[in-house]
Amino acid sequence: MDWRILFTEWADFLIRWVHVITGICWIGSSFYFVHLDLSLRKRDGLPSGVGGEAWQVHGGGFYNMMKYTVAPSQLPQDLTWFKWEAYWTFISGFTLLCWHYFAHADLYLIDRTVMDLAPWQAVSISLVVLVMGWVIYDFLCRSKLGDNDLALGVVGFLFLVAIAFGLTRVFSGRGAFILLGALIGTIMVANVAMNIMPNQKKTVAALIAGQPPNPAYGKTAKSRSLHNNYLTLPVIFLMVSNHYPLAFASKWNWLIITLVMVIGGVIRHFFNSQHAHKGSPWWTWAVAATCFVGVILLSGAARESGNAGLTPAPLAKVKFAQVEEIVTSRCSMCHMAEPVWDGVNVPPKGVMLDTPERIRLHADQIYVQAVLTRAMPPGGNLTELSEDDRKLLAAWVQGGALVD
Ligand code: HEC
Repeated sequence: MDWRILFTEWADFLIRWVHVITGICWIGSSFYFVHLDLSLRKRDGLPSGVGGEAWQVHGGGFYNMMKYTVAPSQLPQDLTWFKWEAYWTFISGFTLLCWHYFAHADLYLIDRTVMDLAPWQAVSISLVVLVMGWVIYDFLCRSKLGDNDLALGVVGFLFLVAIAFGLTRVFSGRGAFILLGALIGTIMVANVAMNIMPNQKKTVAALIAGQPPNPAYGKTAKSRSLHNNYLTLPVIFLMVSNHYPLAFASKWNWLIITLVMVIGGVIRHFFNSQHAHKGSPWWTWAVAATCFVGVILLSGAARESGNAGLTPAPLAKVKFAQVEEIVTSRCSMCHMAEPVWDGVNVPPKGVMLDTPERIRLHADQIYVQAVLTRAMPPGGNLTELSEDDRKLLAAWVQGGALVD
């Protein structure tokens, strides 16, 4: 047994486990509070300073929630803060980014056919994007634009589309998607760490000093937490997308993510309107469904011209020996019980392509990864699978993936 591999594989799993758990806690509490905030109602007789209340039933009891719009007159003794779920999502997520995408940049981040970067260059560009993305977003929010929610929303949206486009011109589709997801996640965490928390601390400090807190602090904190709410659905799509090359490997991947941001935005709008008792804007679902059909259609367009997946070569009968030859020379070095490719310790995703039976078993996946999309071989075709070979694989799968 190789202890190093055993340890690193489990450490990887453990960090991912933490990432998903903390992400659920963070997004869960964020959704909860936006819902609560929108459902608050005014009535006569509320204590002074209370902007609204809501009744909720859960877990065998009734809750009466009240929001002191700026702050209560005194600091309560027990005050729960919500920040560590956000911070830990970032810490674990950034660790995963380093672990997979930075440490194996040639496999995941770089696509030599898009831009021939050295790993250190790819990593440096990524870090600059993460930092500058936040700096520019924060600048936009603080500028005059920040006074107008709609204008800020439109400019923020276009800003993310431009970054998505730019990233897909520099990195592999997979890399571009994970970096955009990481950037949006970073913006969301930075909203908590650099804006929401400091503003809340100022309010608390004013209370302790016996001064009236400035309502502006609460207002910007609330608008940042609403931004986070609208960014959540796209960020989850981006994080999960690296398992679905149809999403990231298409020629139109930046447009796909644009549509996904629209989908995420309108779905949040539907629920936020409902929670605020402002009706049910059903049109949002029509927009979301139309955009999703757009996503499906765009995903079929592979990056290279002439999509072997959709127009198979008119090959007579493909011999399995040809397929086996291609797969063993282009795929098996990574996809075998004990991979021989540097940096690949175990067969990726458990996919082994080293015997005729295993190749046949994975025929559909081979089709998706190597024909329909160009996700495999990774790194912009590291093992140089030719277009003719892709067509041959396509013809084999479409002919019933026979092992003759
Ligand atoms: C340089 C190493 C390497 C080569 C060569 C390679 N792959 Fe992969 N493959 C990977 C890695 C790494 C992953 C895991 C990607 C991930 O984490 O989502 C993977 C994943 C896959 C998957 C599973 C995808 C999923 O998400 O379930 C399939 C199928 C696959 N490869 C097929 C192929 C085929 C077919 C070839 C040859 C044309 C090939 N691979 C060549 C490294 C390689």
